[in-house]
Amino acid sequence: MVGMIPTVRKAVFPAAGLGTRFLPATKAMPKEMLPLVDKPLIQYGIEEAIHSGIHNIVIVTGRGKTAIEDHFDVSFELEHLLESRGKSQTLQAVREISDMIDVAYVRQKEALGLGHAILRAKDLVGHEPFAAVLSDDVIDSRVPCLRQLLDVYEYFGCCVLALMEVPRDQISAYGVVAADPVVHNGASDTVFRIRDLVEKPRPEDAPSNLAIIGRYILTSDVFEALEATGPGRGGEIQLTDGLRHLLHTRPIFGLKFEGTRFDAGDKLGFLKATVEFALRRDDLGEDFREYLRSVQLDRSPV
Ligand code: G1P
Repeated sequence: MVGMIPTVRKAVFPAAGLGTRFLPATKAMPKEMLPLVDKPLIQYGIEEAIHSGIHNIVIVTGRGKTAIEDHFDVSFELEHLLESRGKSQTLQAVREISDMIDVAYVRQKEALGLGHAILRAKDLVGHEPFAAVLSDDVIDSRVPCLRQLLDVYEYFGCCVLALMEVPRDQISAYGVVAADPVVHNGASDTVFRIRDLVEKPRPEDAPSNLAIIGRYILTSDVFEALEATGPGRGGEIQLTDGLRHLLHTRPIFGLKFEGTRFDAGDKLGFLKATVEFALRRDDLGEDFREYLRSVQLDRSPV
């Protein structure tokens, strides 16, 4: 089948949410700019796209999100300063950010939901398949999660969603699928054909324990499906509902990806990701590990 299936060249990053789970830090700063060690959340997602072969980035921004645009822009003053001080390694790290992508921005004037945010990218994406990345979900894996999804997309030529099993008592925080396993590459427990999707169901209504995680490969007919989708959960246009609509006309697949996912939009998840990523750093890991060993974990709160 490969060859007839159009290549995924673009990735859409919805980044217009209000970040209420991280107030007050996100009052004046986009949550996508919260740093995990020393890189903003959104940069992890963008690097994942690049390592998956996707270089055209569309960021859907909202009010007060100029820090994101500045981050991926060239900073002449900063580069000049670093150069004059001979900080060549830092200079390289700063330059790489603006060099690595071709980025376009579109604004979502009102935070009307994830589906609405994706729809704002319609003109920039055009009639091509594309990836969608929610930067809250930081995924650490041997093969980038988007690359894993692309492998499935390149076989079936249909939408592919990242799936993860979650405990029943947490299922209401996610879009949840009803799905049947299909045999793919000799395995029968990682790829699923989706029968139904529901956004944030009550635990007793959840069709399974398979949750949608913020990585999607979408075909451009999702835009028409979203245009036909009314407000759902929370009064917002939900991507999950749009996909449910799309299911009437074409199959959708899911992949239980390999890797560890951190919900960095949540305070505890963010702390866990910070610790894990810091421990792994060549320049910090050893000292940080030693520090953690010295922390008295049973100390009563001050
Ligand atoms: C969004 C989606 C949901 C998905 C989740 C993954 O919800 O609407 O279907 O399961 O991302 O992180 P949010 O967490 O933005 O409320």
